[in-house]
Amino acid sequence: MNHSYQDALAILGLEGAHPGGFELTKQLLENEQIDHTSIILDAGCGTGQTSSYLAKTFHCQVSALDHHPEMVKHAKKRFQKANLSIDLYKSSIEELPFDNNSFDFIIAESATAFTDIKKSLREFYRVLKLEGTLLSIDMTAETSLDPASKKEIMDFYHLSELLTQSEWLKAFKQNGFTDFKILRSSTVLEELMNSSASNTFVQPVN
Ligand SMILES: C[S@@+](CC[C@H](N)C(=O)[O-])C[C@H]1O[C@@H](n2cnc3c(N)ncnc32)[C@H](O)[C@@H]1O
Repeated sequence: MNHSYQDALAILGLEGAHPGGFELTKQLLENEQIDHTSIILDAGCGTGQTSSYLAKTFHCQVSALDHHPEMVKHAKKRFQKANLSIDLYKSSIEELPFDNNSFDFIIAESATAFTDIKKSLREFYRVLKLEGTLLSIDMTAETSLDPASKKEIMDFYHLSELLTQSEWLKAFKQNGFTDFKILRSSTVLEELMNSSASNTFVQPVN
């Protein structure tokens, strides 16, 4: 039986799986005006590590969404164990089950790249409030990437597109987003050099 990269993450129940690790998540969130009144969507929540952190740290209203049944099970278990009231949805980012203008923030960590990016960005824009913010951490191709390596990466991760930073920015703009801030942009090698042992080795969820 063939498993995709994402099936493997789900089966292993890896605690968190995005570039920059959980440390980057915390840094990213510290820069935002999040408080108990904030309404936040964790899109492609995986095992729910970030959703759980958001609810515990800011006591805000969190919705967590993922389309992978195993990921949803892991997240459910995590939220129940910590007694957190987080709304959990098994659904696709490409067709969000929310009304227009529902969220103050959407955080999408290593999720959008795995989807039809344009559909997902359109949906993020639709369900964000007018003054809302999308926090996006995602896989980005270096401009120097040769076509064969690019194809290899896309095949491995089952991606239909692998965007460079300027292509991501263009896609955000084309789907209505304005006022961009790039908080961190580093190569895989730089990430590995800077990462500590604790966020290099991920822990399975119990
Ligand atoms: C690399 S994992 C990242 C999980 C989590 N955000 C984290 O940082 O640990 C990608 C996640 O996106 C989810 N995902 C991929 N495509 C999706 C889609 N179309 N709709 C909802 N979730 C999706 C996968 O099931 C997986 O949980």
